Amino acid sequence: MNNGDITFHTRKWVRPEDLNANGTLFGGSLLRWIDEEAAIYAIVQLGNGMAVTKYMSEINFVSSAVKGDLIEMGLTATHFGRTSLTMRAEVRNMFTRKSILTIEKIVFVNLGSDGNPAAHGYDCITYDRDRLPMHLKEVDQ
Ligand SMILES: CC(C)(COP(=O)(O)OP(=O)(O)OC[C@H]1O[C@@H](n2cnc3c(N)ncnc32)[C@H](O)[C@@H]1OP(=O)(O)O)[C@@H](O)C(=O)NCCC(=O)NCCS
Repeated sequence: MNNGDITFHTRKWVRPEDLNANGTLFGGSLLRWIDEEAAIYAIVQLGNGMAVTKYMSEINFVSSAVKGDLIEMGLTATHFGRTSLTMRAEVRNMFTRKSILTIEKIVFVNLGSDGNPAAHGYDCITYDRDRLPMHLKEVDQ
């Protein structure tokens, strides 16, 4: 399954603390943001707060960003395995629409309460919030 349609959800403002010695966006900051974005995507898709990063394929830093740029991050699920979810990621510059980074495969594994891989039971993308693991959050009324 791969519809190729990436929805760009999260936006970031490139600030001085996100820069490398060259004065452009530090790759480590970008990867931290992407990993968090992928974790949230996996939790929403798999309905489980215990999903962990297993694998990232080649990371292609296509172009850079500079201080003050606005960037947007997008992910889409490309494969639902038995215990895993594979995603494709892209980050682009909101001003120029130029691609900054692509990652063809980010694999998250769904864990059970024992910390071992567990079947998640899903085979398609949800565009809703119907799988949110609400039991993880105590709601005070
Ligand atoms: C996640 C973890 C529990 C998986 O353990 P494992 O022994 O590899 O589990 P399995 O072999 O049963 O594989 C689980 C799933 O991952 C997939 N997988 C395993 N290695 C993979 C790899 N190198 N690339 C892509 N997918 C992989 C398997 O295909 C399987 O998917 P499926 O059930 O949908 O077919 C274990 O590797 C781990 O704890 N890793 C550390 C995770 C972590 O801490 N991440 C945070 C970043 S440091």
